[in-house]
Amino acid sequence: MNTEKPLADSALIKKLLSFENNDISVITVRETSSTNDEVRSLAVNGAEGTVLYVADSQTKGRGRKGRSFFSPDGTGIYMSLLLHPSLPAESCTLLTPMCAVAVSEAIESIVSAESKIKWVNDIFIDGRKVAGILTEGAFTKGRIDYAVVGIGVNISLPEEDFPEEIRSTAGALTENRTDFRNELIAEITNRFMHYYKQLPKKAFLDKYREKLLFLGEEITVIAADKTYTATAEDIDDDCRLIVRTPEGERIALGSGEISIKIR
Ligand code: BTN
Repeated sequence: MNTEKPLADSALIKKLLSFENNDISVITVRETSSTNDEVRSLAVNGAEGTVLYVADSQTKGRGRKGRSFFSPDGTGIYMSLLLHPSLPAESCTLLTPMCAVAVSEAIESIVSAESKIKWVNDIFIDGRKVAGILTEGAFTKGRIDYAVVGIGVNISLPEEDFPEEIRSTAGALTENRTDFRNELIAEITNRFMHYYKQLPKKAFLDKYREKLLFLGEEITVIAADKTYTATAEDIDDDCRLIVRTPEGERIALGSGEISIKIR
């Protein structure tokens, strides 16, 4: 375990947080297995408040659908928020798209580039994925016990390039200014909290639709039992992707086990 002082600076991040009723605990470490796993274990051990946990690198960074998330030292942001929303379990599915809007807006407020969202959780700049989100939750009697929202952002290109399997699709913000990392972590958190505090109103939804890639285009839907072609038509109020098959059938896709591929 690397015990050097972390690049992410908890005091500076805390100073840059500007949302109301801020009682968040900020923890920064040099290296961990997965920030999502760290905050989940805090929750399991009884942590009650909101926690922001940031690592400079992860040895077992996780992505959606059991994939790993490449998390080299110092070239990315790996952060997780521990939340205790007093909401029904179904609301948990809104956290990922809500977070995608927060991350996309935060990036645009600091970097001069337009960022787009690929349903449901990927942030793209110039056709390359620069950030992803992994939301996990624990539930009791149909309510959320706690939720973990993990965010990974590629800030600069890794020294030895991205691994082969993501080399043609991954990108980075390529921003090297000192304190950029801390500013972006704080800005993502500020915007996340802004939308989170009004989650049931779904104030993020119009922005999500505006930023969405591939609406109106033909996509390949990869479900557990079949793969088919359809046109991406809309996002409904529960953030399901509405697609229409060539036979005219309208299908609402939940994010669950479905992937989309652009043709
Ligand atoms: C994806 O693109 O499939 C989601 C990637 C989420 C990665 C972040 S990095 C911080 C947090 N800790 C993890 O292990 N994963 C998330």
